[in-house]
Amino acid sequence: MKNDIKIAMIPGDGIGPEVLSAGLQVMKSLGEFEKFSCINLDWGSEFFLRTGKMMPENGLDILRPYDAILFGSAGDPRVSDDKTLWGLRLAICQGLDQYANTRPIRLLDGVKSPLSDVSSKDLDWIIIRENSEGEYSGVGGRVHQDLPLEVGMDVSVMTRAGCERIQRFAFETAAARPRKHLTLVTKSNAQRHAMVLWDEVFETLCPEYPDVTTDRMLVDAMTVRMVRDPASLDTIVASNLHADILSDLAAALAGSIGIAPTGNINPDLKTPSMFEPIHGSAFDLVGKGIANPIGTFWSIVLMLRHLGRLEEAEDLMHAIEAVLKNGEVLPPDLGGDASTQAVTDAVIAALNP
Ligand code: IPM
Ligand code: MG
Repeated sequence: MKNDIKIAMIPGDGIGPEVLSAGLQVMKSLGEFEKFSCINLDWGSEFFLRTGKMMPENGLDILRPYDAILFGSAGDPRVSDDKTLWGLRLAICQGLDQYANTRPIRLLDGVKSPLSDVSSKDLDWIIIRENSEGEYSGVGGRVHQDLPLEVGMDVSVMTRAGCERIQRFAFETAAARPRKHLTLVTKSNAQRHAMVLWDEVFETLCPEYPDVTTDRMLVDAMTVRMVRDPASLDTIVASNLHADILSDLAAALAGSIGIAPTGNINPDLKTPSMFEPIHGSAFDLVGKGIANPIGTFWSIVLMLRHLGRLEEAEDLMHAIEAVLKNGEVLPPDLGGDASTQAVTDAVIAALNP
């Protein structure tokens, strides 16, 4: 095992710095933290206001030598959202070919779901989001700008290779889970080119994974199934936009967007993968000290697993679960009144009983 694990931390905007500082405190209390070296990169909207860029020109080259990236959030009312997204997060995901976005979500004990009749074993999913193309490929343009006949176009690009690599990753993810069930999300009834290719690739892959049972859902009907029959789902693979939307629904059903983690993974391990809470910059919470750090802690669990630090990953997950189950120290989005620091202290105490 490598002794020096190099983590690049990009706190970014909004509550990003608050939750990442909580994350660093938790990492420091893990066994063998001396094997980690973390640096802080001050990229994001403040950087943009100073330099006109969300990250330096050679940002990707700066990141490449790291073993993993821990990201806070990007988004600031002073900078247009497309600039913050395309200048930083998407630039990193696409530039480092982090094509597999994993979004595990579980109803953890002690957390209340808005669904009345659901238990923790019913809602235990992992959403695999295509993270390099599709609706977020960036292909399109504006024509006749500022004229009445102005046109804006975003083209969803799906490649056979892109569909195949994310779907294989999803099959392998499903095969490693107890239920071994994979649901393909599609909209090939209406989106009749790229989504049909998406479905066809899936059909060709199914026979290669005989242990995995499969089914297929149109994305609109999928929202109903997630609410009405959560226990019927296990692993879910969806396009970039579909999974973006479904993962917010999934997080809300599991109690709060504040707990949900994600990993932007390069499964080939050729570049560092990037881990982040999915909640975003939440400017209404900035400076109040009440942001929920659990999404960051769970993202650190994913990062530790990715780095092969399985024992520390499980210790941290158990500490998160213990704090939530105990219920005495919960942040406001989970119905309590604990501060970011109090939740952090409680998780650290649970890690070192
Ligand atoms: C997410 C987020 C981002 C996305 C936003 C912040 C651009 O919603 O990680 O799901 O759409 O990818
Ligand atoms: Mg989203």
